Amino acid sequence: MIDLNGIKLRNRLLTSSSLLGYGASKRRLILYGLSPIAQWVPLERFGAVVTRTLTSEPREGNFTLREDWKPWQAGELLGRYRGALRRVDGGWINAFGWSNIGIDRYFHEYHPLTAHLNRIISLGGFSAAEFGSLVEVVNREAPVGDIAAIELNVSCHNVGFDFGTILADVLATAVPLSRHPVLLKLSPDYDYLAHARLAQLNGVNALTAINSVKALRLDPVTGRPLLKNGYGSLSGRAIKPIGLRIVAELREAGIGLPIIATGGIHDFDDCREYFWAGADAVSLGSAVWLRRMPAYALGPFEGLRIRRLISAVERYRLPARRARPIAVEPAQA
Ligand SMILES: Cc1cc2nc3c(=O)[nH]c(=O)nc-3n(C[C@H](O)[C@H](O)[C@H](O)COP(=O)(O)O)c2cc1C
Repeated sequence: MIDLNGIKLRNRLLTSSSLLGYGASKRRLILYGLSPIAQWVPLERFGAVVTRTLTSEPREGNFTLREDWKPWQAGELLGRYRGALRRVDGGWINAFGWSNIGIDRYFHEYHPLTAHLNRIISLGGFSAAEFGSLVEVVNREAPVGDIAAIELNVSCHNVGFDFGTILADVLATAVPLSRHPVLLKLSPDYDYLAHARLAQLNGVNALTAINSVKALRLDPVTGRPLLKNGYGSLSGRAIKPIGLRIVAELREAGIGLPIIATGGIHDFDDCREYFWAGADAVSLGSAVWLRRMPAYALGPFEGLRIRRLISAVERYRLPARRARPIAVEPAQA
């Protein structure tokens, strides 16, 4: 067991928000929102599994909440996916726009299915009051110790809202109200050093870095954006150097809170790089859980690789000297 400033993790390897949906599927063959690779990995072996961001009310976002797709409707479903998620240069661009079933249905339909997992619940809203009422629902539905933490997503690009305007109020409201430890998810597109300092001042337990990076791809022939939302968020291998930079900069700025790193992590070396940069735990996102459709057929092999990765991270001891600054002296003329 690892204790990150009150957040209890089974080990230092987590899964990032949303890549495993709500942490379970209701039916064996319909893995709604859950990466198909997940069925080949015992998810209870992860340090923790972070849910998709949940809002007060159900939201279609830029995708769909329908779960009753028939095999002959596969084309329509794939079309919806193409409007919200595309494979691009070294990563993925997505704009699901907080498509989720809402917090009440989550607790009713999915939370009871994941009692064997160590869970972190991601919450999203557009005001401090909304975050406050989400925290109240979690307080009511999840007894102390039932989940490892809540994660406040106050940095998503795909919902057309400037979260910088509400962050201070959200932290002042949500942190004291929560019976569970609190994580704040940081974005490279906001003033993440200021946000981390605010988190420290407001008693947040730890930080998650980084949320996906605001991005754009256009169809070269028509000039139309590839995604329904226009702009989207980049994740995967392409953002790993940005994630490393942000973790290192947080440490150089003297941020002492534990950091859970996510950004392009695929293998053990990626984890070690993030630990050297200053992370205390690492999290698997799109570079592991998303694939081109045919490659999901290799799920059993990928599952084996992930199980070995969990074991490697479990055995790993954090380097003692890792907090040293990365920035070097300016070169002599
Ligand atoms: C398809 C998709 C959906 C995502 N949805 C959420 C979300 O609901 N809430 C959130 O906080 N982050 C969300 N993220 C961001 C990831 O949790 C993660 O922070 C980001 O992708 C960077 O990590 P990665 O490069 O390892 O994927 C999503 C990412 C992807 C690819």
